[in-house]
Amino acid sequence: MTNGNDFVELEECISNPGFTEHGAEESRDSTEKNRGTTEENRESTEETRDSTATSVDPTGGGQQDACTEYTQIKPYAGMPKEVLLLYSSQARYRVPRQILFWLLILCVLALVALTITVIALSPPCLGWWRASPLYQIYPRSFRDSDGDGVGDLKGIIEQLSHFEYLNIKSVWISPFYRSPMRDFGYDVEDFREVDPVFGTMQDFEELLAQMHNRGLKLIMDFIPNHTSDRHRWFNLSRSRDEHYKDYYLWTDCNATAPRPNNWVSVFGNSSWTYDEVRGQCYLHQFLKEQPDLNFRNPHVRREMIDILRFWLEKGVDGFRMAAVKRLLEASHLRSEPLTDPSKPPEAFPSQWELHHDYTTSQLGLHQLLQEWRAEMDVYSREPGRYRFMVTESYDHEEVDKTMMYYGSPLVKESDFPFNFYLLDLPRNPSGLWVQHLVLLWMSNMPAGRWPNWVVGNHDNGRIASSAGRGYTRVINMLILTLPGTPTTYYGEEIGMENINIPHSQIQDPAGKYNPSAGRDPQRSPMQWTGDMNAGFSNVTNATWLPVHPDYSSVNVETQKADSGSVLAQYRLLSRLRQSELPLQRGWFCPVHADTNVFSFLRELDGLDHAFLVLLNFGKEATVTDLSAVAELPDWLTVVMTTASGAGGRRLPKASLPSEAGEGLVLQYSSGRRYHARPDARCFVSEKACYLRVVNLLYKC
Ligand code: GLC
Ligand code: MG
Repeated sequence: MTNGNDFVELEECISNPGFTEHGAEESRDSTEKNRGTTEENRESTEETRDSTATSVDPTGGGQQDACTEYTQIKPYAGMPKEVLLLYSSQARYRVPRQILFWLLILCVLALVALTITVIALSPPCLGWWRASPLYQIYPRSFRDSDGDGVGDLKGIIEQLSHFEYLNIKSVWISPFYRSPMRDFGYDVEDFREVDPVFGTMQDFEELLAQMHNRGLKLIMDFIPNHTSDRHRWFNLSRSRDEHYKDYYLWTDCNATAPRPNNWVSVFGNSSWTYDEVRGQCYLHQFLKEQPDLNFRNPHVRREMIDILRFWLEKGVDGFRMAAVKRLLEASHLRSEPLTDPSKPPEAFPSQWELHHDYTTSQLGLHQLLQEWRAEMDVYSREPGRYRFMVTESYDHEEVDKTMMYYGSPLVKESDFPFNFYLLDLPRNPSGLWVQHLVLLWMSNMPAGRWPNWVVGNHDNGRIASSAGRGYTRVINMLILTLPGTPTTYYGEEIGMENINIPHSQIQDPAGKYNPSAGRDPQRSPMQWTGDMNAGFSNVTNATWLPVHPDYSSVNVETQKADSGSVLAQYRLLSRLRQSELPLQRGWFCPVHADTNVFSFLRELDGLDHAFLVLLNFGKEATVTDLSAVAELPDWLTVVMTTASGAGGRRLPKASLPSEAGEGLVLQYSSGRRYHARPDARCFVSEKACYLRVVNLLYKC
């Protein structure tokens, strides 16, 4: 029998009214009407067919046979809807179908539940400002594109591939606002303009666009404490314009001896200067060309927020808030107490001889920063557009004051305040001292917050110069293997050192006042190549500061070609940090410190490999015995050493050799976790564990 015949027979079965008994007929009628539309219909059809199959009509025997035969044939591909319905409503098809349907629903529900659980358990992704080192550019010294001897924004654009090479995503650029350059850009004449020496606003926009295209983030300097004395506001203020008269801090004083109190400027001398136009003294915590703004004036507060908005609208990714501890001063203007009360009060104090009780860290300061943070948060809502804030405050032995800039669990402030404590490393280069400086931060930082490490900037001598050239590599290894964000001042990745600057060539105002406090030595041009001007400036010979004479060997080009160079090692460490979970976000556990060596573990629960970092800051080679650390296996594998010698070597934990200035990263496998020890002193910002089976990180 052919399929064609089946079809004819079916038509007959359905259309011949006399072929079966009454009940079946009724059912068939309704099937006819609603054919194939509902499950109910299919059921009634099935009943019909059942009865059709079992009943025998004596008057229409031939057709009845055909129908019976039809229900006995097998289903086939391409069968008409009517046949399909007849078959599909049979219990043997219907029941499995229903089971599958409910199974599907169950699977969907389980999947939704699983997704919710995974999201709830996942530790937050590391924000961009945590995931990458922060690189500081001093724009006068990075790259001069137009040959005037001073670096500029186009010069930065020319060198953007350097950051890809280094695997760096976050770049902070020191100020490029319009400025008379008395403090090289930290004296701002117009917060909404680019100084012509650095280029134009178009150059800035081009720079930002190109950085964003490359996945780089641009952090600007924000200098709220003061303006230049050439700022429009100051001119209006000194001439007592009604709106601007209180934009700065003015007080009556004697024109010939203008010292309303003993406050001193950071750069030396009194922090008060008499202004002839107004006939009063104004306050300046830095140069007399940098009058302090009055943050008790609501108009000033609004102006500064508008400036933040101006740059946020342009798309900048964050701000380094300069000199924040000096934003407010005590209104009573009382003299500050001397650190040595036995000194005659008439003696002229230096900034180190006063307790700065009335000129720094005044009540209301954190509220200002919180307002700015809230403003930045408004611009952070877009996915992937988090705006980052870091604050600059040197609080020296008062570390708790620095920690206040982290804000509280309820009120956000900086993402982190700069950690300047490692700048003290050369004071006593030893494993114990470094451990002390590291723990100073880790043990004072509020729980759950993110650390950071600064070993150089435009205000401090290059650490490689003070610690010694032989320690550059180990210092880079330290900051790139500690938990948190390392800051790299331009040139540290190649081991640049301070220049010697003859008195006659001093540029920095701080150096003009006190040559030993001068900051020119660490601001020399970046050393790109062994060519003229170290490739910093192609056209002129007169760069704004001299190039360091070591540039023929210490430069990016030469070091790129040398796999053992400071640069190659920096790059390797930066990549290791990015690719290894324990280095990114694992536990940090110091395990050993002596006069030479500081050593710590980086481990993450659930991962069977972990790292031991062993750094020799001392003056001599030594062998460290870590056999007391039971969690370490007997042998470890060298992933990297800053001394010559390849990775891959195996070293026994009982005898780990290191040269003076050598750093080692060793890898090991162990099921035991050091941080689980009751006596362990370990730190982690956010606990995370690794689940190998599904390659997943989860909160634990
Ligand atoms: C910031 C800068 C510093 C500058 C000071 C005064 O602290 O880092 O270079 O001199 O502000 O503007
Ligand atoms: Mg101030």
